[in-house]
Amino acid sequence: MSARHFLSLMDCTPQELLGLIRRGIELKNLRNRGVLFEPLKNRVLGMIFEKASTRTRLSFEAGMIQLGGQAIFLSPRDTQLGRGEPISDCAIVMSRMLDAVMIRTFAHSTLSEFAAHSRVPVINGLSDDLHPCQLLADMQTFFEQRGSIQGKTVAWIGDGNNMCNSYIEAAQQFDFQLRVACPEGYEPNAKFLAQAGDRVTIVRDPREAVAGAHLVSTDVWTSMGQEEETAKRLALFKPYQVNRALLDLAATDVLFLHCLPAHRGEEISEDLLDDPRSVAWDQAENRLHAQKALLEFLVEPAYHHA
Ligand code: CP
Ligand code: NVA
Repeated sequence: MSARHFLSLMDCTPQELLGLIRRGIELKNLRNRGVLFEPLKNRVLGMIFEKASTRTRLSFEAGMIQLGGQAIFLSPRDTQLGRGEPISDCAIVMSRMLDAVMIRTFAHSTLSEFAAHSRVPVINGLSDDLHPCQLLADMQTFFEQRGSIQGKTVAWIGDGNNMCNSYIEAAQQFDFQLRVACPEGYEPNAKFLAQAGDRVTIVRDPREAVAGAHLVSTDVWTSMGQEEETAKRLALFKPYQVNRALLDLAATDVLFLHCLPAHRGEEISEDLLDDPRSVAWDQAENRLHAQKALLEFLVEPAYHHA
């Protein structure tokens, strides 16, 4: 049997994704009740990080331990990957020793190439194109607070980056409308837009995107790997800051999400994470629960009740 990978939200059916969200909520409940649940005993996750991380590393590592397994952190600095060993060779060797591999990388093709040669599930922990694990946590957070997101309106404000691309895929898989407000030239990837058809609208004015929205989200203006563009981006994105006044234009029960890390005073106002409409801390915690559901689904599907 060839391995099941999670490189994009499109690797699952909408039913499977809803199952993962439900299971994430169940696993959170088990943990809150102090129930030990270790379906991944003796299982090992390898985690390759070519970019920095706090939440992704911690949630996968803690998640594996809580499920009874272990995680190994691998940096290209200390492995042969960083010295030019072909990705395909690394994938063959690593997947003979591990039960799953999580990769945070630059080019999305690194993930696809690794997955093509891996015997075990490969998980996208963020690429320049997509951040699907974050969307599992975002959707779980919305479901916990408001129920189904089907038919709702979501506003993405700022850069048409990896997070925005994953929101575009989420709009298709979870059946909501997405409005993206971004400066000219910073639109999301055309390939993802074309796939989404009229589910996604691009506007220039953030107020137009947010009007009546049930969920508003944003992300840093300079993603990892774009550091040399910081000054230019700071000036260009200035009108795209999400603040309390902007949220006031949304639905009265709007939720605000931010995948973090946040830059207060840039993409969000100083006070936004303290606003009662922000659930960014729950969202960050849900990385743990949602990814435990994902690990169980990919590594030990017999336990997964989706
Ligand atoms: N949101 C997120 O992926 O955070 P890290 O970069 O800290 O993993
Ligand atoms: N867009 C950001 C997300 C960080 C979690 C980046 O790629 O750096």
